[in-house]
Amino acid sequence: MGIRITPSILNADFSHLDQEIAKISEVSDLLHLDVMDNVFVPNFTFDFDAATSIIAKSPLPVDSHLMIADVDTLGPAYAHAGSASVTIHAESSIDPVKTLRSIKREGARAGLAFKPGTDIEDYLDIVAEVDMFLIMTVEPGFGGQKFMQSMAEKVRRTRALIGDRPIWLQVDGGISLETIEIALDWGADTFVAGSAVFNAADPAEMVNRLRALVTQ
Ligand code: DX5
Ligand code: ZN
Repeated sequence: MGIRITPSILNADFSHLDQEIAKISEVSDLLHLDVMDNVFVPNFTFDFDAATSIIAKSPLPVDSHLMIADVDTLGPAYAHAGSASVTIHAESSIDPVKTLRSIKREGARAGLAFKPGTDIEDYLDIVAEVDMFLIMTVEPGFGGQKFMQSMAEKVRRTRALIGDRPIWLQVDGGISLETIEIALDWGADTFVAGSAVFNAADPAEMVNRLRALVTQ
């Protein structure tokens, strides 16, 4: 099973983003870009133009996590802008199959994300459309929150649902040296870490330490 560490820049210094990204670009698999519109979540990060410029400049492939309302329009646009992966939230998509297909048509991997309160059971029939499931282990909106142990069953069920399919299983929220092995044990293979990485004195070393804990 492949393992991926995808640092989130949500807790990085936005005024020196290029330098912040450079700190982790040698040791990370993808750059996790949290897009928030202050509608779907009570926080704002980047509009489409700002995000596009980060995607264009990033030395790492970009994993765009869209916490926005108009995801059916903007999801494919984020793929067209050069994201390696675009993840839409199940809760904000009116037609997830159509949007996931459009994202793939634009050349990106298509991800489907679930807030803590959303059941995956309503989406079992669209597994074949999905390249990555994202199970949130905090309520989306802010970095630095506590990892929700109560997501264990949902992650385990998603792993069972994936079976032999080459679908990534990402966890996002509260991943740290204390929690990453728990999420691995549940079945996750793709790990977002925001504050754990960017609040560390040496972000690259932290990525390496996190990876070491989940790699045999
Ligand atoms: C939360 C974001 C996460 C966040 C993770 O809404 O989707 O990607 O940056 O930050 P930490 O790792 O600090 O929980
Ligand atoms: Zn995220």
